[in-house]
Amino acid sequence: TKIDPTAVVIFGATGDLTQRKIIPAFYHLRKHGRLPDHFVIVGFARRPYGEKEFRALLKQSLEDYSHTHPIDPEVWQWLEERIFYLQGDLANPEDYVKLAHLLNSLPESKYYKDNHLFYLATAPKYFPIVSENLAKAGLNPQPGISGQRRLIVEKPFGTDLKSARELNSILQKYFPEKSIFRIDHYLGKETVQNLLYFRFGNSIFEPLWDRKYIDHVQITVAETQTIGSRGEYYDATGASRDMLQNHLMQLFSLIAMEPPASLEAESIRDEKVKVLKSVPIPSSEEWLHNSVRAQYGPGILGGKTIKAYREEEKVSKNSLTETYVCVKLEIDNWRWSGVPFYLRTGKALAKQFSEICIVFNRPPCVLFANSTKKVARNWLKIRIQPNEGIHLLFNTKVPNLPALQEAKMDFYYRRYGDHYFPEAYERLLLDALNGESTLFTRSDEVEYAWRIIDALRNAWNEEEVDSIPLYAPGSMGPVEADELLRRDGRYWGPPPKEEEEIQ
Ligand code: BG6
Repeated sequence: TKIDPTAVVIFGATGDLTQRKIIPAFYHLRKHGRLPDHFVIVGFARRPYGEKEFRALLKQSLEDYSHTHPIDPEVWQWLEERIFYLQGDLANPEDYVKLAHLLNSLPESKYYKDNHLFYLATAPKYFPIVSENLAKAGLNPQPGISGQRRLIVEKPFGTDLKSARELNSILQKYFPEKSIFRIDHYLGKETVQNLLYFRFGNSIFEPLWDRKYIDHVQITVAETQTIGSRGEYYDATGASRDMLQNHLMQLFSLIAMEPPASLEAESIRDEKVKVLKSVPIPSSEEWLHNSVRAQYGPGILGGKTIKAYREEEKVSKNSLTETYVCVKLEIDNWRWSGVPFYLRTGKALAKQFSEICIVFNRPPCVLFANSTKKVARNWLKIRIQPNEGIHLLFNTKVPNLPALQEAKMDFYYRRYGDHYFPEAYERLLLDALNGESTLFTRSDEVEYAWRIIDALRNAWNEEEVDSIPLYAPGSMGPVEADELLRRDGRYWGPPPKEEEEIQ
């Protein structure tokens, strides 16, 4: 589709996100001919920059963070000429009047008119004030204006159900829900979008996608990095709010949802919300039984010495913040009743990988082994990253022996060869420019996800402890998380092997 001329305003324009993600994404969109000819970016931030310095800063960040190199000078020049800067204070309504004036006076304004995309790339505490100040300056959607005014909001969206509700109600006071684009960058990943294509574009898997054939589901987002310089944010957040509430819940609802009526945004989001609504909220006691939180201790990872989480910069020495979380969730509906979903994520783990494993039932009767327990289950592994692909594990006869052995069928995204693999932010920015909401989180979706996480965190907070379990950096997490599956007669799928990585 053709995108209308647009002016993008980035609040927090000198920050990390703008440099690492937003500008490289716009550069690649232009490189692939996906931006409208009439297009401007206005950076809004406090630093006393001029246009020239701001452009130089962004050029440097493009060099540093682009996922393709070298930078094409023509493409950058095109973009650079369209980048402007306004020094402003997020809390000062007058600076938004200046912004409105600037937006009206740029030469391109006769094309983009009132088509504005406001990107809140600021600390979350500013989300309410920026939207309010935009409205005060008449920059929110209004009756009678000719264009679309849209708002992109970064995560974290609230810190619990209450704050998310408050934030929703403030934003919705000034921007209608259809103009609010809440980012969860996992939805922009190709392989996450593929979950829908894979499930509903094939007829061989979907008939098996339920409690009759599936024993359980595992969702893993494992990271090798430690907290590093993010201590201040992270210590107040923890893995349950940084990752589980958003990215893992998205994977969970996409894997478990019913077929949508259409690919239209509301149909898909309705089905995702239904999954979250069908999760029975465990009591605190049940939660403590069905969850594990842990912190990395001191150790060695990839040859480097790692300090314990509590020793990291800006982390409290008595911190109970989890750098690892694992939960067992149920979905109380006809498709999934009785099928556990195990979700885990953590920092400083052995491998960087995200994967969903669908683990099927064993064959019902003993033909090939002394006990059905000895027949391996079939696993369908959907690798979100890296080495994106899909792998099916099944049993075959060993030649010349009356025995079964596990075999594997592999699909790698690499087979698409020269196809360009866009970064998540490219897809998301393109969709926001188009007003296409499917890959953004709806207000009720965020709230239902918080409902689950709040209950979990309440259970943890009620526990009177001085410390939480530790795990060794470079391991796959605490033994308690292995135990959580073992007591159900299950085990975590092993992390990918080296030979798979290089294949
Ligand atoms: C972010 C979290 O939302 O997602 C980070 O704040 C995390 O803690 C990151 O590292 C993971 O994203 P990706 O795309 O690298 O898997």
